[in-house]
Amino acid sequence: MRDQGSTPADLVREVYLGGAPKLTTDLTALEAAARAVMTPEAVGYVLGDAGTGDTGQANRRAYARRELVPRMLRGAARRDLSVTLLGQRLPSPVLLAPIAAQTVVHPEGELATVRAAASVDVPFVLSTGSSHSLEDVAAVAGAGPRWFQLYWPSDRTVAESLVRRAEASGYTAIVLTVDAPTFGYRPTDLDHGYLPFLRGHGIANFTSDPAFQAGLPEGGSVVGHWARVFANPSLDWDDLPWLRKVTSLPILLKGVLHPADARRALDLGAIDGVVVSNHGGRQLDGTVAAFDALPAVRAAVGDDVPVLVDSGIRTGSDVLKALASGADAVLYGRPYVYGLALDGQDGVAHVLRCLLADLDLAMALAGCPSTADITSDLLR
Ligand code: FNR
Ligand code: LAC
Repeated sequence: MRDQGSTPADLVREVYLGGAPKLTTDLTALEAAARAVMTPEAVGYVLGDAGTGDTGQANRRAYARRELVPRMLRGAARRDLSVTLLGQRLPSPVLLAPIAAQTVVHPEGELATVRAAASVDVPFVLSTGSSHSLEDVAAVAGAGPRWFQLYWPSDRTVAESLVRRAEASGYTAIVLTVDAPTFGYRPTDLDHGYLPFLRGHGIANFTSDPAFQAGLPEGGSVVGHWARVFANPSLDWDDLPWLRKVTSLPILLKGVLHPADARRALDLGAIDGVVVSNHGGRQLDGTVAAFDALPAVRAAVGDDVPVLVDSGIRTGSDVLKALASGADAVLYGRPYVYGLALDGQDGVAHVLRCLLADLDLAMALAGCPSTADITSDLLR
């Protein structure tokens, strides 16, 4: 935990006084650094986009295209990065995106990530496809808030079991991902003939699940059963009220791009918030950048509904732009996995400290003493 007197931007002073850090502080250079230490299969899986990669590139271009017009002389000597989300005060508007199969880049996987997240007070969203079970992750997570991302399995008893286990282990929200009824067409993985789950990564929540085990045919292959159960491509709007009945935890719908889908989710009364996302360009190739889809989604749901965004966020200025465009918070994705690949728990903590320092300084330089001061007029 950060001690009370310190601020995220203190990292900068620490580095100037203490000497160069082990890993780069350039959040856009981590990808190249991580690429050099990862196996080709892991590079393919983590960095890979769907199809031509246009969506992934569009995600970055969208942030580059919108420019900040900072304000001066607004007394931003000390910044308050905190936000309120689902009735909880969070120290910053940043949460870790759910990313599956993290043992692909480091044997400690999600255990290292969640420890790092807790050390910098950043909430963690654990993927259904984690390589360590949600109980094992909760056991090392400390007191920080943690959410559970649900891939709704084709077997409802497994779906219910996962949600119950998440509740019992202290996860305080369910993030239902709806943009992956099936994996996208991913040439990098196809060319390697590689899907982590079929090699035993990212299936721990299933192998540890009593409902999953109960459905396993005698002598049948675990991975084969996982492939049958993992996803539910026929999921539709009529299923959502069932999930609402199963849990009283807040539910956020992740993977929404169309404002009408966001509105429909809310009108159903089953959903507490949305995550505007194109899955980092890994699903449908050629989609709108998530950042560009954000304003219309915000307009469709109104001011009071939690709206998060991810896909392409790399720097503090990106976070600033996302909040100025109507997001309450962001999910930070691939860069923390690069930190994990480069230096395990310390690598993730380093990346998060850099992001928060960058955001803290960006708020100072844009004239925003608090997140409430990050308004749309900062953007051109
Ligand atoms: C993901 N993402 C993801 N999303 C989700 O809801 N459940 C999951 O299990 C995964 N798994 C996953 C694995 C890997 C390797 C990546 C890179 C991404 C998507 C993730 O939550 C987020 O939407 C994207 O990572 C955002 O894009 P950027 O900013 O990371 O490029
Ligand atoms: C992925 C899935 C697991 O993007 O969400 O690989």
